[in-house]
Amino acid sequence: MTDTLSVRDNRTGRDYELAITDGTIRAADLKQIAVGDEPGLATYDPGFVNTASCRSAITFIDGDAGILEYRGYPIEQLAEHSTFLEVSYLLLNGELPSQDQLDSWVHNITYHTFIHENLKQFIQGFRYDAHPMGMLMASVSALSTFYPTASNISDPENRQLQITRMIAKMPTLGAFAYRHQQGKPYVYPDNELSYTANFLAMLFKMSEPAYKADERLIKALEVLFILHADHEQNCSTNAVRSVGSSQVDPYSAVAAGVGALYGPLHGGANEAVLAMLRRIRSTDNIPDFIEGVKGGKEKLMGFGHRVYKNHDPRATIIKKACDDVFEVTGVNPLLKIAQELEKIALEDEYFVKRKLYPNVDFYSGLIYEALQFPPEMFTVLFAIGRTPGWLAQWSELVQDKEQKIARPKQIYTGIRTRDFVPINER
Ligand code: CMC
Repeated sequence: MTDTLSVRDNRTGRDYELAITDGTIRAADLKQIAVGDEPGLATYDPGFVNTASCRSAITFIDGDAGILEYRGYPIEQLAEHSTFLEVSYLLLNGELPSQDQLDSWVHNITYHTFIHENLKQFIQGFRYDAHPMGMLMASVSALSTFYPTASNISDPENRQLQITRMIAKMPTLGAFAYRHQQGKPYVYPDNELSYTANFLAMLFKMSEPAYKADERLIKALEVLFILHADHEQNCSTNAVRSVGSSQVDPYSAVAAGVGALYGPLHGGANEAVLAMLRRIRSTDNIPDFIEGVKGGKEKLMGFGHRVYKNHDPRATIIKKACDDVFEVTGVNPLLKIAQELEKIALEDEYFVKRKLYPNVDFYSGLIYEALQFPPEMFTVLFAIGRTPGWLAQWSELVQDKEQKIARPKQIYTGIRTRDFVPINER
């Protein structure tokens, strides 16, 4: 078997042989297929449904089989046995850390959790009802002004420092955005606590000398962070890579990722799921709602995925985490609506035919709500979890010799050369 693709251009009768590598052909190889002086052939792929943009050794997904692996480790095993910081180390470095490496990594992250007081004032400047994702996006971007040397992206030590800072400061920024919205005083990091316990303390501590969250809730949030930590070339990671390809500093690149994540088709779906369940209000209203979805009125939020066409392995783990959390907090009444909705949708021809299954966001919102987060905070939690993934992908990008500034082509559909018309003649 020869790993090539034979192509005949019926416009010219010419034959071409294109190399096949890793199940892909190089779009640039198509350029040679041309008619006369016209530009050569290109591919047209809105939404990148069948285009690989990079080589990556970080995350493997088999969408048909419902497999997700970080650096080769199945997500189920990592969710059960690992911690979020250990998984972050794995994503960034390619291997699980030794005990010494882990201790030093955890120490470094803990050491960098504080933010500059001026950044705190910057957050204070937002309106009382500002969406936390808007505040997070702006404050991540503002970090680049506090660490101007971050622009030196070719220095590995410098890159490592900014990566550590960003993973360390994300929960602080997220918690400050939340406290701002609540009109409550900001709570500074407590470096005696673990990453996730400290985040919960910064969110919920009031006058008590030390805030101690329930260990089972800490574990549930850790699991959620792990499940969100990376997902190969999703919309926000693509945004990070695309912006990062201009060789800008990593804070600016990750701020772009936060913006992409904010959208309801991506990370914003968890907030939208909760709003949808509230609107449905009772299981009696589900049939009408489903009819509306099938009629194209709206989408069933938390369902469907570009890659998973069988099941989303993260959704399975989250369903189990729901049980653990509800054991502590009591059952979220919206759970019944979600379960019934899932049952009906999974039997319905419309969803079955289109291979639409619950995704990671379908149940995560129910857990977040049980943990006392308001819906506007859900996507912030996703962003904190996704930060090591964005940074691992950014780091891979800047070291990849094959990468160039991201600059797609277009098919121009507008009017061609015409003479300017003075305003009084239009
Ligand atoms: N409800 C109803 N119909 C749907 C849904 C849905 N949630 N998702 C897809 N469809 C339909 C879609 O209308 C299309 O139908 P038709 O062939 O008749 O035009 C068909 O299914 C194929 O959908 P698509 O839009 O081509 O699929 P895509 O791969 O471009 O989109 C998606 C993937 C996740 C954006 C989409 O399924 C969706 O909008 N889901 C709801 C939002 C959501 O839950 N997003 C979270 C995704 S997982 C976490 C993350 O990425 O952040």
